[in-house]
Amino acid sequence: MRAVVLRTPGQPARIEEVALSAPRDGELLVRIEAAGVCHSDYHYMTGDLTAPLPLVLGHEGAGIVEQVGDGGSGRVQVGDRVALLWRPRCGRCAACIAGNPVLCELGPVQAQSGGLPDGTSRLAQADGGELHHLMGVSCFAERVVVNENAAVVVPDGVPPEVAAIAACAVITGVGAVFHEVTEAAGRPLLVVGAGGVGLSSVMAAALVGAHPIVVADIDPAKLELARELGATHTVDVRQEDLVERVLALTGGAGVPWAIEAIGRAQTLEQSLACVAPGGTLIAVGLGAADAGFSVPLNQLVQRQKRVVGSLYGSSNPHLDLPRIFGLYLAGRLPIDRLLGDRLPLTEFEEAYRRLTSGAVGRGILVP
Ligand code: APR
Ligand code: ZN
Ligand code: ZN
Repeated sequence: MRAVVLRTPGQPARIEEVALSAPRDGELLVRIEAAGVCHSDYHYMTGDLTAPLPLVLGHEGAGIVEQVGDGGSGRVQVGDRVALLWRPRCGRCAACIAGNPVLCELGPVQAQSGGLPDGTSRLAQADGGELHHLMGVSCFAERVVVNENAAVVVPDGVPPEVAAIAACAVITGVGAVFHEVTEAAGRPLLVVGAGGVGLSSVMAAALVGAHPIVVADIDPAKLELARELGATHTVDVRQEDLVERVLALTGGAGVPWAIEAIGRAQTLEQSLACVAPGGTLIAVGLGAADAGFSVPLNQLVQRQKRVVGSLYGSSNPHLDLPRIFGLYLAGRLPIDRLLGDRLPLTEFEEAYRRLTSGAVGRGILVP
């Protein structure tokens, strides 16, 4: 089958013919219908984030189950549409038992091995050489083999591209609001970065009644979409100072919650400065492996600010994705409004050129 293979960060990934072996016990073979053009893959392409190489890119996908390996739970059947998850869930470790499977102890195994949660790969190069999965998914490909626990069945009526982005960008942005923000109704919330993740937070903020909803970006077209999705105020940080504007909007108080959905030191520091005493900065964006940002100590202590990291929206994906699909089907979470260009898999380079040059809406690759 054809797949997008990354061999050397900083050099173009290429479409290659690769081999995919049959699903083992508790695994699924899935034919990919749609894959999201997420910024996280780009971090691997540039070398900001590292993983065992060579690998097949793509981690935001949905498709149809074509084969179910032996020993499965029976929860997923041939013919089901599934959304793919990029964190494993063993169900037995302390994090899984505590209901926080995003921190499952198999996560590092999957990441360090470049394999499925058992640490082995179902992918191989055409000449038999080793080939790794990315985040247990690798959906920039015609098909994938994934662990059954990395699949959530998608209800009828949810299109594949909606399902694909729901399982990464949307659950990340929505989950940050659902799980890290409490009693938002009628209180201000700031979202910094209006990409697929940030705009998902905007939709969720509107759903839970946050007001005002302030959104910052460098791109007026993204801010326009943010307003359509519920932003009441937008800040073009190329034109205006974010902190001044937010403080002015909140009578000098700041916001109880700021969600940073970019992953840059400067915007994290600005976001923290926008947080009111007792308020929380929720960091969602990923940066380079060694990136950090500075926190003014006395602001943190004297104003009792909190800084929390949120991975995968601090969600429990097997519980939260069905919730998100239900809200989408009820018209309460217009995920389809986030969709941008659809391109064939062969045009993944163009899709990433558009992502990094400000295209509005989440790009979708179709194998
Ligand atoms: N100030 C404000 N906005 C900025 C700035 C800046 N200095 N730099 C970039 N942006 C905006 C971009 O214009 C874009 O709208 O941040 C947004 C980032 O969106 P995407 O590139 O679509 O990224 P997304 O897929 O939403 O992911 C955001 O979350 O999961 C992580 O790895 C992911 O770090 C990435 C982040
Ligand atoms: Zn993603
Ligand atoms: Zn676990």
